[in-house]
Amino acid sequence: MEPVTLTPVGLRCAHLTDPLSIAPDRVRFSWRAEGGGSDSRQSGYQVQVTQGTAPPAAGGRVAWDSGRVASSSCSGISYEGAGLRRGDRYTWRVRIWDSAGAASAWSPTASFEVELDPASGWPASWIGLDPARDNPSPPSEAGPSDPVDSALRPAPYLRRSFALAEPPALARLYITALGLYEARLNGARVGNAYLTPGWTDYRQRILYQAYDVTALLRPGENVLGAVIADGWYAGFVGFDAKRPRAHYGSAPELLAQLVITSASGEVTLVITDSQWQGRYAAIRHADLLMGERQDLRLSPEGWDQPGFTADGWRPVLCRPGDGRPLAADPGPPVRVIESRRPASITARGDGKFIVDFGQNLTGWVQLRAAGPAGEVVRVRHAEILDGDGALYTENLRTARQVDEFTLAGTPAVLEPRFTMHGFRYAQIDAPAPPQDVVARVAHSAIEATGSFECSQPWLEQLFRTIDWGQRGNFINIPTDCPQRDERLGWLGDAQVFARTACYNRDVAAFFAKWLDDVGDAQLPSGSFSDFAPRLHVEWAGAPAWGDAGVIVPWTIWKMYGDTSVLRRHYGAMTAWMEFIERDNPSGLRTQNLGNSYNDWLAPGGDNTPPGLLATAYWAYDATLMAEIALAAGQPADAARYRATAAKIRSAFMAAYVSPDGEVSSGTQTAYVLALHMGLVPDGRRQQAAARLVDAIRAADWHLTTGFAGVGYLLPVLSSHGHDDVAYRLLAQQGMPSWRYMLDQGATTIWERWDSIPPGGGFETAAMNSFNHYALGSVGEWLYRYLLGIDQEPGSAGFGQLLLHPRPGRPLTWARGRYDSVRGPVSCSWAVTGDTFRYEVSLPPNVTATVRVPATDASAVRDGTGQPPASVSVPGDGPQEAVFLAGPGPHQFTGPSPI
Ligand code: BGC
Repeated sequence: MEPVTLTPVGLRCAHLTDPLSIAPDRVRFSWRAEGGGSDSRQSGYQVQVTQGTAPPAAGGRVAWDSGRVASSSCSGISYEGAGLRRGDRYTWRVRIWDSAGAASAWSPTASFEVELDPASGWPASWIGLDPARDNPSPPSEAGPSDPVDSALRPAPYLRRSFALAEPPALARLYITALGLYEARLNGARVGNAYLTPGWTDYRQRILYQAYDVTALLRPGENVLGAVIADGWYAGFVGFDAKRPRAHYGSAPELLAQLVITSASGEVTLVITDSQWQGRYAAIRHADLLMGERQDLRLSPEGWDQPGFTADGWRPVLCRPGDGRPLAADPGPPVRVIESRRPASITARGDGKFIVDFGQNLTGWVQLRAAGPAGEVVRVRHAEILDGDGALYTENLRTARQVDEFTLAGTPAVLEPRFTMHGFRYAQIDAPAPPQDVVARVAHSAIEATGSFECSQPWLEQLFRTIDWGQRGNFINIPTDCPQRDERLGWLGDAQVFARTACYNRDVAAFFAKWLDDVGDAQLPSGSFSDFAPRLHVEWAGAPAWGDAGVIVPWTIWKMYGDTSVLRRHYGAMTAWMEFIERDNPSGLRTQNLGNSYNDWLAPGGDNTPPGLLATAYWAYDATLMAEIALAAGQPADAARYRATAAKIRSAFMAAYVSPDGEVSSGTQTAYVLALHMGLVPDGRRQQAAARLVDAIRAADWHLTTGFAGVGYLLPVLSSHGHDDVAYRLLAQQGMPSWRYMLDQGATTIWERWDSIPPGGGFETAAMNSFNHYALGSVGEWLYRYLLGIDQEPGSAGFGQLLLHPRPGRPLTWARGRYDSVRGPVSCSWAVTGDTFRYEVSLPPNVTATVRVPATDASAVRDGTGQPPASVSVPGDGPQEAVFLAGPGPHQFTGPSPI
């Protein structure tokens, strides 16, 4: 028998570990092959799924056995067995064969449970309180004259007690809210997720979570409770002064069912219904933008535990389910990811303390406070301090970001439960110096998958700053910013940052969730929207914004190799393509550009013609759609989209490209888009790239790109032989540049290149966020070009790697890692004297082309002294020594290209 070389590890279903509720059509399996030598490729796999908890060997009923499938695929493997039973638990395992045909042992089992039937699986009713009937106390001390204060309402506490004869064998809590919920069972918080059930267009889709609560139940009396708050459903969201809040409804409601299975298989249901009681209590208001106010004197001690006498609690309002689709949350939960200690605390007198957490972040402050009953501790949040060392809050616009706690007279740990703030600084107004202050950093649980180090500390800092921008904004949806009265899922921002986001962190499940929001926000015309989830406006999506509906699914497929995202959104994408074509039959996209943000926030004025930008993005969509159609099994459409792309390309060239490679307007973004989207005739590409360099030179080696061009700027320079210019822009310290932000103390990427203008002070408070990730889309270049971690064009899911590092001054070395779906890809390079050395470590189950740049490519050798398989001598860049490599470590040495 051959030695076994490969083992399947990291089993996941729908990009989640053992999900407790997953829609049947999302059930997709993935794993990684581990171990093995330099030829360790997976030649086949076998997946077995059994109903229940026992694997087949232990007598479980097999629901699907794929048999041995000859394939190297290890992600996006769809379930093809008999219908999955709603609410049931399934166990699965996989074994794989290596290239020599040796089979691994079966993996340890993994599991998934199936989403409840959206129509018949929810006997529960929506429950809540009536603010008018149940809240006799005045809305706020500030008085009803303040419209914000009078809109803020206390959070309902809801409870139900029930009896169990025996401890359960298994118990699941399925729960959601119109608003936000925190579930409690017998005094304990259920789960560790925040801001649940998350933000969707509740008119179209309501997500719920499932929790394993078996260990929280006991024989005798049990109490299930929940606190619910306005959240995105009823609270303040966005910036529309005419409609600042209550976008989907006016008061929060809860829907829950606890399914308890006894050892003998008997099922008991505890559902939200008229038997529940409720009251308003300690949380006097809770709002995402405004903050939270708690009066600890009103905490109903023990309310969520057995033995509590619910005096003064009222019957809840109760209405049956209204048929709105309930779906299991496909995304990762928002969690407290870390607690960060202050870098400094400064007393400002008058009981005011300014805490600097040393990092702009998203979450809230937790502290311990003691003081007499009735004393108030107030926590304000800001991203930055003004010249006097006070919090600068003007850029928050109408968002308050203030939490307030009225003490009960006993020492207490204070923290809000239903709000989020974007801040680096907090001002704490307290009777005594606050104790144990930490920032609770909260965001969607997206694991880091990338790392980057190099010889220049500022570039490492840029990398961290980009990642913190992502962490601060990936909160259930990708928001533009986490602090001011906006926090919307702007499609343009997400589109330009998506590839960087995927390298930095595992966002497969995160984007799976948000792409449903993008689909829900699509208008009947076929137009994608500017932001998703949608509020009440019905704008057509602007160019580079609406186009995200094609670009983001394509990016997710490329990075994770799972075609299901393409199939799921295929109809939406084709409707978008028809929407554009309908009004723009000539191939130039000049009509129906929505709000046309064009090259948003381009420094020095946005001089790119809107028709040029729009047409370029449309051509890009069409090119991607041709690839998408093939991957989604629609070859006829692929041919059609290739024809559409060709039509747009000719129209673009006729309208905007001159015979000598000049692109109309001459802006950097015009060149970048024309080159990136393939809209310059092949023979003129170098001329056009040279003109891009001229435009950069004319700006004294500064960039002038806004949101729509910035992400492609460095990649375009590098792919046309101008790595030196890419590095020059990266190292530029004058405004506008990334390094300028860092030099001004940025710890997250700013919204504007000049958020702090060179003369000091702040750009207009009307729009000046210090945490907007879009301009951080340069992160993609750090991974794909600087380190060279990329994949072959046309491939997806990192099975066919392309490693093509781009060394450049002032760097002398760099190293980094990307944990792909096939496993970690690590690279490092160093220039020592005249020698360039590139080292890579590749996971099993990949092939790789390594292109090592050199002044003389034929002189490059691999670690065993072998010359390259071929040498490429392009006219427009360094020579490259081409090697073919497989799993394992490799090193290459040659004459340095820099
Ligand atoms: C947001 C942006 C968004 C833009 C649309 C702004 O208010 O903050 O990030 O993409 O509007 O132009």
